[in-house]
Amino acid sequence: MRTGRPSARIHALMERMTLEEKLGQLSMLADGLIETGPPGPHNPFTMIEEGRVGSLLNVWGRDLIREAQRKALEETRLGIPLFFGLDVVHGHKSIHPVPLAEACSFDRALWEETARDNAIEAATDGIHMTFAPMLDVSRDARWGRIVESAGEDPLVNAEYGRARVRGYQNPGDDGFMRIAGCAKHFCAYSAVISGRDYGEVDVSQRAIEEIYLPPFRAVVEEGVAAIMPAFVDVAGVAMTAHKRLLRNVLRGQWGFEGLIISDYNAIAELVNHGVAADLCEAGVLALKAGVDIDMMGDAYNKGLPEALARGDVTLDEIHEALVRVLAFKEQLGLFDDPYRGIGRDISNGRVKRRALAREAAQKSMVLVKNDAVLPLRNPARVGLIGPMCDAPADQLGAWASAGAAEDSITILAGMRAGFASSRIVYAQGCDLKSAIYGGAEEARLAAADANVIVLCLGEERFTTGEACSRTRPELPQCQLDLARLVYESGQPVVLVLAVSRPLVLPDWLVDGAAAILICWHAGSETGPALADLLSGAVSPSAKLCVSWPATLGQMPVFYGMRPTGRPHDPNNGWSTSFLDAPYAPRWRFGEGIGYACFERSNLRTDVARVSREGVVNVSVDVANTGDCEAIETIFLFIRDPVARVTRPVLELKDFARITLRAGETAMVQFTLRANDFSYLDENMESRLDDGLIQIFVGASSRPEALQRVDVIVDASGAIV
Ligand code: GLC
Repeated sequence: MRTGRPSARIHALMERMTLEEKLGQLSMLADGLIETGPPGPHNPFTMIEEGRVGSLLNVWGRDLIREAQRKALEETRLGIPLFFGLDVVHGHKSIHPVPLAEACSFDRALWEETARDNAIEAATDGIHMTFAPMLDVSRDARWGRIVESAGEDPLVNAEYGRARVRGYQNPGDDGFMRIAGCAKHFCAYSAVISGRDYGEVDVSQRAIEEIYLPPFRAVVEEGVAAIMPAFVDVAGVAMTAHKRLLRNVLRGQWGFEGLIISDYNAIAELVNHGVAADLCEAGVLALKAGVDIDMMGDAYNKGLPEALARGDVTLDEIHEALVRVLAFKEQLGLFDDPYRGIGRDISNGRVKRRALAREAAQKSMVLVKNDAVLPLRNPARVGLIGPMCDAPADQLGAWASAGAAEDSITILAGMRAGFASSRIVYAQGCDLKSAIYGGAEEARLAAADANVIVLCLGEERFTTGEACSRTRPELPQCQLDLARLVYESGQPVVLVLAVSRPLVLPDWLVDGAAAILICWHAGSETGPALADLLSGAVSPSAKLCVSWPATLGQMPVFYGMRPTGRPHDPNNGWSTSFLDAPYAPRWRFGEGIGYACFERSNLRTDVARVSREGVVNVSVDVANTGDCEAIETIFLFIRDPVARVTRPVLELKDFARITLRAGETAMVQFTLRANDFSYLDENMESRLDDGLIQIFVGASSRPEALQRVDVIVDASGAIV
């Protein structure tokens, strides 16, 4: 988003503003429909009247928004409209799968379409900005916020972010940006030590440049309206005051002209970080780093008047932030229509939005095991067992905005509707965290009477998301006990995992299941979507966007590791490995199967040598040799086997989805630029070497799923 030069209207307004009114515009306060951080001492409505707040978060709905806006317009000296922000992360009322789940669709068009629907629902409830997309490349399942990300790969997070920004910021029928995206948390928040939320982050400059910054650069290129710095310090420098990354890189090198909005109370928390003695020093650090809006910290309101008096900040520095805030409101059209879109009747689109929520859920659920038990062909009796069968609230996942449990269609309801000719024998068995009286017996009876059992286990929604780090991301014992009981029935078991992070699973639970479907917290339409997949109405097509650890001690584990001097070799004890755990994760990045069979052949490039400005087209033929139409995702990785620094064993450079009818073959083509083979050398300078680049194409990151073709980068410019 370009704020551009401020209009004459904004200049005239600024001429009339007092210092207090100016600092008020730089302050965002929470109102209490939901709590996303420690409650503050303030009363937002009083502060609106006093002109000491420019935006609110965590409030929505026609009446509340209209009242707050009316107060700002009619009961303040200058009548400057407010803007309203909310964490609309995976839906507002029609709740979609959590981001970690929807990322497993690898479907750029879907990501954009669901974001657009989120924006339509949020805008009619008076929301102008969503604090999304969250683009923290996540590789540690102990960190509860992994749920909000698009997984372990920088490119996937970048492509996800681009699609979300396009979907959010599409102009509505009033011609203004529907809702503004605020990409977060800039940057490297997901690398917190031990996966402990808000913990310290110590990553290399290389990791920052190659892993954590690329998704943010992508959304800046896409025109994202705002960026939110992370709570954390990175190598001792608090992100909220990180002048080099915020001013020099984000604004200077990338040319970002949008808003920088602090995270919740993060400016005030610079005092806790030990880099500011008081709110005054905290406000100075953040303002000089380029942070425009103080969310909940009240540091700008309380600290900057003194800082100005001391000469620690200038009025120009305050004006620089103020212009961006007022220009943003002008870009939203709020000076012309401060009530824009509130209460617009969108009921005629509800059926379509629910259908999209169902499609998103279908495309997010990952089938990782199927011993020929799925799809279920009209089973006479289905034992539907487990605490996630009838969990309308928990299936929505964390950050579910205004999503209501009563609007959920549960797995129980979905299975009853989807298997109308089968007898569904339901037993809860236990609740999510503890046994229930008689539950075991009820489950035993349901299991004994069934031809097949669908066992639905998982996590409570509020054990995932912010401030939900776990040292043991595992299923609760009561659920494992229930599983053992069900397995003893001897009937085939389809294990359904309704979770928001990879959980460490015991081998017996995995080995004893005839099929395993990672259904995630898949939102309002979880039930119908699951039934669609289990019945074969739709073939599963999702693939893991995050590696699934086999044990706690493996974490962090991800596909793009560096080879080391002693690459893992199962036949060589002197190679990198564990004594007490496998080297490989339980399921790798990109794994996921469906009901069709896909074969790849004829992998080729159009050139064997490419000049430094050249292009390589990589093609592969994909055949559906199965008996049903299905979607396949193909990944393209590269490896630079010899470079000035060690390079990851695989680097994802593109991915593509293709729908094929039974028996159909089609070509999938990728285009690589020679510059895609460049890297940061030992001096962190971008470099493109002559020499061999290995290109891998396949259905996942599993070595056996990949085929390789080589290309030579040739600075001499010779193209063969
Ligand atoms: C929270 C989160 C951030 C969210 C903000 C507003 O603390 O860190 O992701 O957008 O506060 O709710």
